[in-house]
Amino acid sequence: MPKLAAQFYRPQTIHEGKLGVLEPAQRLAQLRQQLQKASYAYYVLDAPIMEDSVYDQLYRELQALESQYPQWITPDSPTQRVGERPASQFTSVRHRISLYSLENAFNLPELRQWQERWQRLAPDVPDAEYVCELKIDGSAIALTYEAGVLVQGVTRGDGTTGEEITQNLRTIRSIPLRLALDSPPPIVEVRGEAFLPLAEFHRINQEREQAGEALFANPRNAAAGTLRQLDSRIVSQRRLQFFAYTLHLPGQEEQITSQWQALEYLKQAGFVVNPHCQLCPDLTVVTEYFEDWEGARQRLPYMTDGVVVKLNDYALQERLGFTQKFPRWAIALKYPAEEAPTVVKDIQVNVGRTGAVTPLAVMAPVQLAGTTVQRATLHNQDRITALDIRIGDTVIIRKAGEIIPEVVRVLSELRPTGTQPFQMPTHCPECNSLLVRPATEAVIRCINSSCPAILRGSLVHWASRDALDIRGLGEKVVVALLQHQLVRSLADLYRLTESQLSQLERFGEKSAQNLVQAIADSKQQPWEKVLYGLGIRHVGVVNARVLAEQFPSVAALGQATVAQLAGVYGIGDEIAQAVFDWFRSPANQALLQDLEALELTLARPQTSVENASPRSLTGKTFVLTGTLPTLKRQDAQTLIEQAGGKVTSSVSAKTDFVVVGENAGSKLAKAQALNLTLLSEEELLALLVSETT
Ligand code: IVH
Repeated sequence: MPKLAAQFYRPQTIHEGKLGVLEPAQRLAQLRQQLQKASYAYYVLDAPIMEDSVYDQLYRELQALESQYPQWITPDSPTQRVGERPASQFTSVRHRISLYSLENAFNLPELRQWQERWQRLAPDVPDAEYVCELKIDGSAIALTYEAGVLVQGVTRGDGTTGEEITQNLRTIRSIPLRLALDSPPPIVEVRGEAFLPLAEFHRINQEREQAGEALFANPRNAAAGTLRQLDSRIVSQRRLQFFAYTLHLPGQEEQITSQWQALEYLKQAGFVVNPHCQLCPDLTVVTEYFEDWEGARQRLPYMTDGVVVKLNDYALQERLGFTQKFPRWAIALKYPAEEAPTVVKDIQVNVGRTGAVTPLAVMAPVQLAGTTVQRATLHNQDRITALDIRIGDTVIIRKAGEIIPEVVRVLSELRPTGTQPFQMPTHCPECNSLLVRPATEAVIRCINSSCPAILRGSLVHWASRDALDIRGLGEKVVVALLQHQLVRSLADLYRLTESQLSQLERFGEKSAQNLVQAIADSKQQPWEKVLYGLGIRHVGVVNARVLAEQFPSVAALGQATVAQLAGVYGIGDEIAQAVFDWFRSPANQALLQDLEALELTLARPQTSVENASPRSLTGKTFVLTGTLPTLKRQDAQTLIEQAGGKVTSSVSAKTDFVVVGENAGSKLAKAQALNLTLLSEEELLALLVSETT
């Protein structure tokens, strides 16, 4: 966020200003409003009015107040953008109004044919105004607001029925939780495109690559995959955005009479409308718009694959109506996919950190979608066989989603004589051990854990920013260390000396000293980063954090059963099995012993509560109800029991304390009726600490 401190809006704290001390309910409302305003300015207007630190401070105050007064949490509160619990599955919802798809035109003559078609149905209209909108490559979403509050968000699905993903959509900051309208209509339906900006798409794929997970082919798949995540915490970490483009005001249709007016209304209601929409007086201007954006769209931070052309006038739209599948009043004018011919000079085979062996075509350099391309992924043997790609072939390559170049077809008529079908090697190109193909996978793998390619990848991953963050230990240095046989495992890094490093090319005394220091400093990196750095399959940054939160030490994690691991919020069966298997490998056990002896951080630091002397709550009975803001119910129970207290499931006159979280139900009501002492999580923690000091 840019620093604009001087003109920033100053929040009024609870103790200052004309209002004096506010009642908690008033303060809650005020905080919600201030945070909503700041979020809108930042995410929608792109004109921040508050510094991050101030925002965070207000947000924390709101969180604290809400945990104290969970009964006053409203669905439009900024804290409700991220859900506490993952959904077990999504529910199917029938759309109130179907989401139609669009007919495609692939060139300008087809656009003119569309114009002629609609004019035949409305012969009295010579030409009309059109609205041109960039066709954003994401997922169409339908949002419903009742009395101005977001109540439901649904995927397009098959157009008639979609999946309810409200909680995931709440995480998108450019989707208002409450409309910015003074007197909102009873129902508003807004449709638009949820999408991932390119930078975010790259970041996610990088993370997936490091975690040894399959990459998303393009931002559209990544957006769709993200929206269907059951855990909204993962969704909130992937910065989806939303452009609104369709408005329905059931019962108040007369208010808005054109698409252009609808876009204006959407902006006023607090949505982001793509800023490049244009009102065009006739089809000639539409053509110019399409041509202008053909090149310019390459510089946009998100992906577009065409222009949506809509007749502006709603009365005309209504007259033309729909075919079985499409509106007659709109069309998607698509840009041609970016493809180019080139020659395959070689097929190389690459071994990644997880041992996955992938074939790669090395090609004569060619310009494609604004960049020079020399390499294309061939994915796996099945794909090579299906396309019959051979060294020497002329091929057409395409940037799949304009990002990862891939070979789409072979021009076999141009094939030189004497070429041979390509076969993936049976042995690892780096260590010569036999490659295996797991029954359920299309990739083949090297499973020799001391394969230099795997070690090289593991070292680079270990040093990467999200892992141990060792500055100065990039791929080149790793390769040099391996060539000089200075390291054979991750632990060897911590035994490197300055004099050993100075032997390496381009390593001066100072840089050797810096690297040794950076490696030593990495021992302070927290347990979750070490866990991520170990490079266990499927354990990316998020899963590492989740596991490290749940299992306070490497010993606890190593002892967990598959069922215990899979029982952790956000951890699926496949991840659980991968973690379990990793700990069963003697080589990995030896590595952990080494790392422990070297004093890396393999456990979470103990909090004062965990250190607290037990038995101070002896004889006290607790009941837990609702979802607590940070503690899982089991954790809260363990803490109480460690302090000598007892946790029971039903409230009675004998209950000493009732710990109340969000969505507390009948137990809270009963406790209130019995006039029992209610505690928020914060108060419980305070009690645990004070009882022990
Ligand atoms: S209007 C009846 N406007 O394109 C109107 N769609 O091929 C239907 N899309 O499912 C949609 N940008 O996911 C519309 N500005 C835009 C769009 C857009 C992207 C997508 C949307 C739709 C698909 C149809």
